[in-house]
This record gives sequence, structure tokens and C-alpha cells, in this order.
Amino acid sequence: MAQVSHSTPGSSKQDQYQEIRTALRALLEGERDGLAHCANTAALLYERLADLNWVGFYFARSNTDLVLGPFQGKVACVRIPWGRGVCGTAAERRTTLVVPDVHEFPGHIACDAASRSEIVVPLLSAGRVLGVLDLDSPRAARFDEVDAHGLNAIAELLVAHSDLGRYVDPL
Ligand code: SME
Repeated sequence: MAQVSHSTPGSSKQDQYQEIRTALRALLEGERDGLAHCANTAALLYERLADLNWVGFYFARSNTDLVLGPFQGKVACVRIPWGRGVCGTAAERRTTLVVPDVHEFPGHIACDAASRSEIVVPLLSAGRVLGVLDLDSPRAARFDEVDAHGLNAIAELLVAHSDLGRYVDPL
């Protein structure tokens, strides 16, 4: 059984992401089931990062939509058309989107009225989009470049150690 260490109070944000990566590597070891790994990644991020009200995945499906995957937080919309909302836009552009104020993002899809800021990281494999990792916060401007860097590293680790191809139709 892998040991999951807890972050030290007062450690820097970079240190915290380093600790999360270490914990995630331990969880990924010896297993490739992508659905299970996404579920544990959502739980790990929700437990370790402050000021979040939602963490989860949307998977690329049917070459047109993103469909809800494992998550932590309130119930969320099931299907997001490609190119719509923060998730669909990040997927279409194949890039991370940091949204300091969701009310300022045209087409933002409000799943939880408490959400004020959001970050969406695409899950990429050989240039194709498998889905996205989405984090919401009730605090404005909660996410910055350190979060973008840290979450991209987590997404890469997750994709490299998972058989997510079983669950998605890459776009
Ligand atoms: N806000 C997202 C929708 C997903 S929920 O935040 C969980 C968007 O605009 O794509």
C-alpha cells in the first residue's frame, strides 16, 4: 500500500505541487486503469489544494462533446459541446485556460453558482485531446501560472500512466 504524505503547513505552492506529484506517482504505480486514476487524481487535488469547490474530468466523446468523468464537488453538467464553455474552449485550443473571473468569460457554463474562478488543463496524447481537467474556486483569481504549470505536470503524469484510450474518443 502506497504511503500518501500530507503537505507541510507554510510550504510554497511549488513545493505543494511537488508533494502532490509524489503522492500521485505512488497511486499510479502498478496500475493503468484510467478511470480509477482520474477518480483518485480528482480526490487528491480536492483534498490537497485550498479554496476549491469542484475538481474533475471531462472526457472527449463521439467526436463532438466532452462528457463528465470522475469528480469531487457538487453535481455538474454532463455534456459540454466541443468549443463551448471554458472546458470546450480549452479542449478546442489544446491549451490551458486560467479564468480569473468566470463572469467575464463569454459562454462560461455555470454548474455551481459559487464558482468565481476556474482553470482548465487539456489532457493531451500525441497532440490529440483525450479530455480536460477542470478546477473551480469560490475565490476570484484563485489560479495562476504556478497552478497552470503544476496541473499540466499532473495531467502529463496521469496520461502517461493510464489507459485512458479505453474511455475516450480522442479529438
Ligand atoms: N464551468 C465549466 C463547466 C464545467 S463545471 O465548472 C464543473 C465550463 O464553462 O466549461
